[in-house]
This record gives sequence, structure tokens and C-alpha cells, in this order.
Amino acid sequence: MASPRPVPLQWELQIMSTAPTTGPHAAVSGLQWGDEGKGKVVDLLTRRYDYIVRYNGGANAGHSVVIGDQRYALHLIPSGILHEGKINVIGNGVVVDPAQLISEMDTLAQRGIDIGDNLRLSTRAHLVLPYHKLQDALMEAAVSASRGEHKAIGTTGRGIGPAYADKMHRSTGLRAGDLLDPERFADKLKHVVALKNAMLGATADLAGAEFEPIDADELTEAYLGYGEVLASHICDTQHLLHTGMADGKKLLFEGANGCMLDIDHGTYPYVTSSNCGAVGIYAGSGVPGGTVGRTVGIMKAYTTRVGAGPFATELDDEVGQRIRDRGNEYGTTTGRPRRCGWLDLAVVKYTAAVNGVTELSLMLLDVLAGFDTLKVCVGYELDGKAVEGFPSSSVEYERVTPVYEQVPGFADEVTDCEDYDHLPGAAKQYVELIEQHVGLPVSIVSVGPARNQTMIREAHAPVSA
Ligand code: GDP
Ligand code: IMO
Ligand code: MG
Repeated sequence: MASPRPVPLQWELQIMSTAPTTGPHAAVSGLQWGDEGKGKVVDLLTRRYDYIVRYNGGANAGHSVVIGDQRYALHLIPSGILHEGKINVIGNGVVVDPAQLISEMDTLAQRGIDIGDNLRLSTRAHLVLPYHKLQDALMEAAVSASRGEHKAIGTTGRGIGPAYADKMHRSTGLRAGDLLDPERFADKLKHVVALKNAMLGATADLAGAEFEPIDADELTEAYLGYGEVLASHICDTQHLLHTGMADGKKLLFEGANGCMLDIDHGTYPYVTSSNCGAVGIYAGSGVPGGTVGRTVGIMKAYTTRVGAGPFATELDDEVGQRIRDRGNEYGTTTGRPRRCGWLDLAVVKYTAAVNGVTELSLMLLDVLAGFDTLKVCVGYELDGKAVEGFPSSSVEYERVTPVYEQVPGFADEVTDCEDYDHLPGAAKQYVELIEQHVGLPVSIVSVGPARNQTMIREAHAPVSA
């Protein structure tokens, strides 16, 4: 038998240097249905890292960062962009609407944020085109027309699902790198547009909507124009990250959406179309599995959800409205009012396990001030029996009854509190109840959107990356 070919030395060195370290790299992951405050935490952690990496989702994400009297809403650009000297990477797993990206770049530049070599876009990232947004809207309308409004997903309308579907279809997918080869791009787009026009026309009929066919030439011209603007940012980000890791650079992965919206592990079909949990990091960036040592799970002190789908602790009453008002719970991307409810620790325990979370960051605790009592869901019952694990079917999940623990509320406002020990006793009890039920330390407690409204409990962070 022939002996195996020796591995060239430079390959061996490269493999060794990018091998999982489970050490210096970290991830920020949403543990509910999105909008947990990931942007704020990424901003807080960024100074310790060199590369801030988005690996999933697209412009469905809306991450808000407040710095002094300035509020920034980021959709595609990693939240690290607000810090000087950091490399911000839009990885291969993101679906990118180039018009939205350029508008975000322009808005930031107008506000004095430097956009140059510090922003990199993967050649492999798939593009969102206008027909994806149309398809998104028409599919929702067609489903509503045939099956009733509650069967629609309630998407953000950003074309996310159709763009990921085309990625999987392969013959209709277009990537950022394709923009750099105008002839091939124009040729492929012409064929895709013909197909899309036929498909969208039929979907519009079902939805009872008007449809104006898309002009392939106009679209090609617009996209090649975006390609020219983005060309200096487009690169092989997988190689960039591998080289960075070999040079000792530290990576911070910024999850978009939330684990309950994960295509595999969320409340399917009322989810988004990517792996938004930490499970998506490796496929969505090209770094080896196990690279991340520190995974910070971001959770609100209560629960919110935007769009359709089951939500066991939802409060469709004045308590829910009070949380919405105090927490300003309106979508960063679509402005839709968010559905609000009590904290659901069955959700957090499940998503923390799926994500391999090492510590928790508790956000918006200030919103709960002033309630006499608070309710926390610690498990579910179905048909009178305790539910084990997390229901894998939305139909089943619709039917669960939350099991609540009632705990004392805290009357005093906590927004000015700078020291964990100075929090009211009931607020500390709330934090400790979370730690006990989830089995993880709460290392960050946030009591307002600003940077200084944050208590970092360094001693509670088990991994000091
Ligand atoms: P993301 O999508 O997970 O980044 O979260 P969003 O930015 O969409 O939504 C979180 C909202 O809560 C933003 O408006 C933040 O400025 C705000 N926020 C973050 N932390 C706190 C906090 O501790 N208290 C309050 N009141 N607001 C917060
Ligand atoms: P961030 O990153 C909250 C929800 C939508 C809808 C479902 C599918 O800000 O936490 P899509 O447009 O992705 O096909 O919509 O997912 N959704 C989010 N909800 N925050 C987000 O992002 C979301 N991204 C998607 O509301 O229910
Ligand atoms: Mg958001």
C-alpha cells in the first residue's frame, strides 16, 4: 500500500497555528428572541478584542449602541466599528444588502466614524437583491391570503429568507465576490431575474398583489455600481481571520437575532433563516470549531418577541404595556411594537445549553423597577405533566403552561446604580434566582442603555478572555 503523502511543512504550521485554542476568543449570543442588548455588550467588550465578526443574519438585525448623547443603530456593520483600531468583519454567513451596507457606511462616516480598512466583507457572503425583498413580502402576503394572517412569519421584510434560500439553491445565489467580475455577474443575474420574474408573478397572483417585472439591465448596473464602492472592502475574510489568529489577534463574534430564532434550534417555523446561536459561528466565519472560549449569553430581565410565533410568558395586558413603555420596546429595524412578557428561564436555560454559554449578561433590569411582585417562569407543564427538555414543535409549544415563581419586586429606580452591592436586595435576589436556575454566573448587569449604566462583576466571569 502506498504511504500517505507527507503534509507540506507550511500547511502543518498553518494548521497548528489555527487549531482551536478555547482561549482568547469570545462570542456574544442572544438567548431569547432577539433585541436582548447584544450591541451594547459588544461595544463594552470590543476594547479587549482585535477583530469583531458578524457571522449570521443580515439587515434584519438592529443593534443599538449608546455612546454619550449619541445613539447608533447598526444592521450589517459589526458594533465594533465605533472603536478605533479594530477590524470589523462581515463574514461569509451573513446575507448582505449592498445598498443598505453602503447607506450604513455613509451614515457612520457623516457622523465622524472612520470607514476604511477597518471594514471587511467576505467574498463568500451572499447578496440580498431587491427581488428577495419582494419575494419576502409576497410570500408573507400569499401565506396570509391562503392560510390566515397568523400563519405568516411576521418577517422584517429584509429579504433574509429568500436570500438564504438562493444560497442553498446554488444556481440562483450571488455572492459579494461576484461583484468583482462584472461580466460573469451580469450574465448570471440575467438568468436569475428571468426566473424570479416568473416566480414572483405567480406568487403575486396568489397574494392578490400587483407585480412589476424587474429589469435585469437596470439591476445589473445598480449592483455593479455598489460593487465599485465596496471593492476595497471585499476580501477573503476566512483567510484574514486565520492569519489574525496565527498572529495572536483576538476575535469577538457578534451574534445577530437570538437563539430562539435559530433556524434549527428556535421555534420553527417562526424563526429567521440562519443559525444565530453560537453554533453558527464556525460555518458563518470559517474558523475552526471550538475556537471560542468565552460565550456571553445576553438576556433581558424579561422577555420580548417581534413577529409571529408562540411566546409562553407573553403579557397581553397593562403589565406587558408597562414593560413596553418603560423599556421602549419598539423594533430598531422595523419600529414594530415588541411583544412583552415575564422572564422565561426555561427559554434561557435551553438556549444557554445550546450555545455553550459560559456566563450571562442581564440587561434592562431597570425596566422592572416599581413592580410589587415579579413573576419568573421556571418550567412548563403540558397536559398536567412537567415538560422535560424544550418542546421541538411550535404546535406543542403553543400549548404549554408556564410554571411561575413569584418573587418580590423592587420599588426604587436602579438606573443610577454603579455598584452591584448597592442594588436593592430584591433586585439582587432576582439576579441570584437566575444564576441558580440557569446554573451560570451573571457577570454583567445592565441598568440603562449607556456604557456607564453597567455593573461588571469581574469575579463572576469564569473565563477572563
Ligand atoms: P440587540 O439587537 O440585541 O443589539 O438589541 P437592540 O439594540 O435591538 O435593543 C436593545 C435596546 O435596549 C436598545 O435600545 C438599547 O439601547 C437598550 N438597552 C440596552 N441595555 C439596556 C438597559 O440595561 N436598560 C435600558 N433601559 N435599555 C437598554
Ligand atoms: P437583532 O439582531 C428581533 C424576527 C422577525 C421575525 C423572524 C423572521 O436585532 O436581535 P426575518 O426577517 O429574519 O426573516 O424574520 O425573526 N427577527 C428579529 N427579531 N431582533 C432581531 O434581530 C431579529 N431578526 C429577525 O421579527 O419574527
Ligand atoms: Mg435588535
